[in-house]
Amino acid sequence: MRTPRVPPPRPALLLLLLLLGGAHGLFPEEPPPLSVAPRDYLSHYPVFVGSGPGRLTPTEGAEDLNIQRVLRVNRTLFIGDRDNLYRVELEPPTSTELWYQRKLTWRSNPSDINVCRMKGKQEGECRNFVKVLLLRDEATLFVCGSNAFNPLCANYSIDTLQPLGDNISGMARCPYDPKHANVALFSGMLFTATVTDFLAIDAVIYRSLGDRPTLRTVKHDSKWFKEPYFVHAVEWGSHIYFFFREIAMEFNYLEKVVVSRVARVCKNDVGGSPRVLEKQWTSFLKARLNCSVPGDSHFYFNVMQAVTGVVSLGGRPIVLAIFSTPSNSIPGSAVCAFDMTQVAAVFEGRFREQKSPESIWTPVPEDQVPRPRPGCCAAPGMQYNASSAFPDEILNFVKTHPLMDEAVPSLGHAPWIVRTLTRHQLTRVAVDVGAGPWGNQTVVFLGSEAGTILKFLVWPNASALGTSGPSVFLEEFETYRPDRCGRPGGSETGQRLLSLELDVASGGLLAAFPHCVVRVPVARCQQYSGCMK
Ligand SMILES: *[C@@H]1O[C@H](CO)[C@@H](O)[C@H](O)[C@H]1NC(C)=O
Ligand SMILES: *[C@@H]1O[C@H](CO)[C@@H](O)[C@H](O)[C@H]1NC(C)=O
Ligand SMILES: *[C@@H]1O[C@H](CO)[C@@H](O)[C@H](O)[C@H]1NC(C)=O
Ligand SMILES: *[C@@H]1O[C@H](CO)[C@@H](O)[C@H](O)[C@H]1NC(C)=O
Ligand SMILES: *[C@@H]1O[C@H](CO)[C@@H](O)[C@H](O)[C@H]1NC(C)=O
Ligand SMILES: *[C@@H]1O[C@H](CO)[C@@H](O)[C@H](O)[C@H]1NC(C)=O
Repeated sequence: MRTPRVPPPRPALLLLLLLLGGAHGLFPEEPPPLSVAPRDYLSHYPVFVGSGPGRLTPTEGAEDLNIQRVLRVNRTLFIGDRDNLYRVELEPPTSTELWYQRKLTWRSNPSDINVCRMKGKQEGECRNFVKVLLLRDEATLFVCGSNAFNPLCANYSIDTLQPLGDNISGMARCPYDPKHANVALFSGMLFTATVTDFLAIDAVIYRSLGDRPTLRTVKHDSKWFKEPYFVHAVEWGSHIYFFFREIAMEFNYLEKVVVSRVARVCKNDVGGSPRVLEKQWTSFLKARLNCSVPGDSHFYFNVMQAVTGVVSLGGRPIVLAIFSTPSNSIPGSAVCAFDMTQVAAVFEGRFREQKSPESIWTPVPEDQVPRPRPGCCAAPGMQYNASSAFPDEILNFVKTHPLMDEAVPSLGHAPWIVRTLTRHQLTRVAVDVGAGPWGNQTVVFLGSEAGTILKFLVWPNASALGTSGPSVFLEEFETYRPDRCGRPGGSETGQRLLSLELDVASGGLLAAFPHCVVRVPVARCQQYSGCMK
């Protein structure tokens, strides 16, 4: 599940060059922000660098942090680091520094480290990187660490951070390699998307820890996954939706092309029959996400970087996603919005299939799709009261047809925001749907790889109809503090923005980097309206 390093699809690159070269009708002009924060503003931001109460710097000789995950629960921030877990209070919002109230050290034991070293891994990798950090119930955190390439999970007390009960295996719940992207979510049971093996070949969407059977995706089947990179998961209705990118298998190109996808599974799936799909999903389906700039020649932003949770905009359940061009192409980013009801509708549409390994992919004629619809959720009171009762015909169909024919259209059939030729790629997105003096405006924050935040005002209805300029670029400001967030001359990767989260209660954004978490106000003027003159 390494980030696929693929050559850019050449036609797309040429097209982008053309677009940049003159076709102004396609890519809107990119005006500068209405305001740019002065650099010295940064020194007022509170920072967490791993120090305890009342201290500005961590204890003498302490290592730099190596933050992997952050989780905000109301006014408390949990930070999953390398070998450590921190609990940080966000109150009072005026504090000038962020300190931990609790710190738990969870190191790999020497035998795990030895085995890891014997398998040829570096000393720096053979440590316990916290890759899963979730709220399990009001009193319990669920935490998984890579544990020197032997992942483990355990419950922890939310108050004391003390472990509760035994360790369990992290296999299929947590990656072995700290560099791998993974996704995890609790909804009755634990849903995870990661790789299950040391060599990172077997990618899964996995469900475990509950009263239903443990389920996984079909192993080593490129129709289900091809080098996926998991980005996000959300719960919506009776399904869990997973957002990821992967190598497309439905194009007959010689070059590898990355596309972005959404997949879903039924929460109540219990797997197939003993003959087909036993202990595997009977409801796994996936579809392409279409974030493209319309015009005579269509340009696609294929590389999904981040997705927000489901928010309500203009009465619609929406996720915003930020996409980019491939990293070795011309930098360009786009924000597209997807209506979850339209996502769900695509899963009710046609399936796509490849009849033989040489033939092109085509839609499956509706009269060849068995009934009830493959991929649907079985439930008591329906024709089949559990997925294990489905006839083999349905189970075989869903096993061999995970891909939907149609791509999910973006709202307004165009990106809400497009940025090209930015200095750093935009990789994070956060949205405030209750912004402004009357709490009825929508503000989108985009974070670059290097921690620059671009703030936009959008009008969802206008955008959805495509009737007006899709956004106003309000502000640009920095969040990375070189004076606090890394040793002078430290590694460049220390400036990589890991996560960007809105903390409405304190009117702030929490930006996490490998060595620090910075809290910045969402606006430098008191209210958004004041910034809009
Ligand atoms: C973790 O906590 C949950 C409830 O929050 C409990 O059901 C489960 O048994 C615990 N697991 C372990 C390994 O202690
Ligand atoms: C869980 O694993 C950690 C790291 O290997 C170890 O230090 C700890 O003692 C284990 N706890 C239990 C209850 O097994
Ligand atoms: C946007 O459109 C929806 C329905 O199309 C409507 O219910 C909502 O009031 C509109 N919102 C605004 C801010 O105009
Ligand atoms: C489904 O129906 C069968 C009998 O038709 C029954 O044995 C089984 O318990 C039912 N399962 C559920 C989940 O209701
Ligand atoms: C993506 O959306 C555009 C605009 O609606 C459409 O023209 C194009 O055909 C779509 N592409 C796919 C693959 O569905
Ligand atoms: C927000 O509410 C104010 C006051 O009710 C109204 O004037 C304004 O048009 C609204 N803005 C949007 C975008 O709905």
